[in-house]
Amino acid sequence: MATRIDDEYQALKRSVHLYVIERLDDEGLEMDRADRSQITRLIQASVDQYVANHKIPMASSDHAVLVREMVDEVLGFGPLEPLLADPQINDILINGARNVFVEIAGVLQRVQTRFVDDDHVLRVIRRILAPLGRRLDESSPMVDARLPDGSRVNAIIPPIALDGPSMSIRKFNSKHLTAAELVNLGSMTNDCLTLLTGIVEGRRNLLVSGGTGTGKTTILNLLSAFIPKDERIVTIEDSAELQLNHPHIVRLETRPANAEGTGRVSARDLVVNALRMRPDRIIVGEVRSGEIIELLQAMNTGHEGSMSTIHANTAKDALIRIETLLAVNGYDAGEQAIARLIGSSLDVIVQLARLPNGRRLVSEVVALKPTKANPYRMETLYRSREIEWAELEGTDS
Ligand SMILES: Nc1ncnc2c1ncn2[C@@H]1O[C@H](COP(=O)(O)OP(=O)(O)OP(=O)(O)O)[C@@H](O)[C@H]1O
Ligand SMILES: [Mg+2]
Repeated sequence: MATRIDDEYQALKRSVHLYVIERLDDEGLEMDRADRSQITRLIQASVDQYVANHKIPMASSDHAVLVREMVDEVLGFGPLEPLLADPQINDILINGARNVFVEIAGVLQRVQTRFVDDDHVLRVIRRILAPLGRRLDESSPMVDARLPDGSRVNAIIPPIALDGPSMSIRKFNSKHLTAAELVNLGSMTNDCLTLLTGIVEGRRNLLVSGGTGTGKTTILNLLSAFIPKDERIVTIEDSAELQLNHPHIVRLETRPANAEGTGRVSARDLVVNALRMRPDRIIVGEVRSGEIIELLQAMNTGHEGSMSTIHANTAKDALIRIETLLAVNGYDAGEQAIARLIGSSLDVIVQLARLPNGRRLVSEVVALKPTKANPYRMETLYRSREIEWAELEGTDS
């Protein structure tokens, strides 16, 4: 029953939308020029007219919702508008017209938001991408883009996406969490914070490791703030997210290939270039590929205190992932040489985790203390009590 009513409403919306567009066309408004309030008034009048013409019984609150949805449709990103505007929402995930999820405070939940159909989803995706000059069609069915406000968007469409056009939006958070906020949230203790401050001031080479959305960028941003003000920093990111409050910083951003397939500037190119810019420290937003080679070498040769993040669920996994990245990107050396490079470059891994209730925290901080026998010997400098409890509970059940 619920879905029938829902379908009826979607059908109504589609008809009203067509009607509204016709009316706006009749008015001959130049959409780019006309001001928002003028268009809003016209949409309001068109909805009134439609509802009256078709004698649709409607509560005034529903009527207001319908008008707002039409305004969002005509001027914005349709059903996504309220989600984009809600500061509580970090991620918006659309799996076809009927399945929309958001993440609030670390917990994924399904929302009532609906698109009329898959074409509608596609229209909204295209509208988001159009001003960015990115295209999405059968020949290039997936695209990564960044909105003017810094939010990151990935879209992928059929036939590659089997259940309709899908889009993932990570909203840009203009304010990274502060140290005090992270302590208040229980994401780290004061002791942990003191430890990390000392590690950064002591110019240890460091990786922040964690799964998707565990807060790697947030922690990297926080740690960068502890870098003494007289040092020169070069940052390298795929999409500039770091907001370092530091007087001496050069920010570099990678660039994907253009439509002709040329012009790509990779993170690896940028690390190589950064080394010629006389930085004290290099900060790479996230190592995902060949840049790991130059970053580890830089850490080893006068750029101590360099930092990055890596996608891994444990500190041990982070090391394995580095080995893999080295191997697949042509670092052609024996197992021992690889272990030596890693062991001599990297000093500390800050591991992040997300608890089942959505809370994110620093689960442990480990120092890499290689010996001849064990190049990956690790010493725990900090370990979250909560993780221990969570693990205990895990073994009970
Ligand atoms: N300790 C925390 N407690 C609550 N929310 C947090 C915490 N750390 C980060 N967040 C929020 O979680 C979202 C993701 O954080 P962030 O971008 O730092 O994660 P990430 O691990 O870098 O993600 P990705 O894997 O996409 O790069 C942001 O909206 C951020 O504000
Ligand atoms: Mg990140």
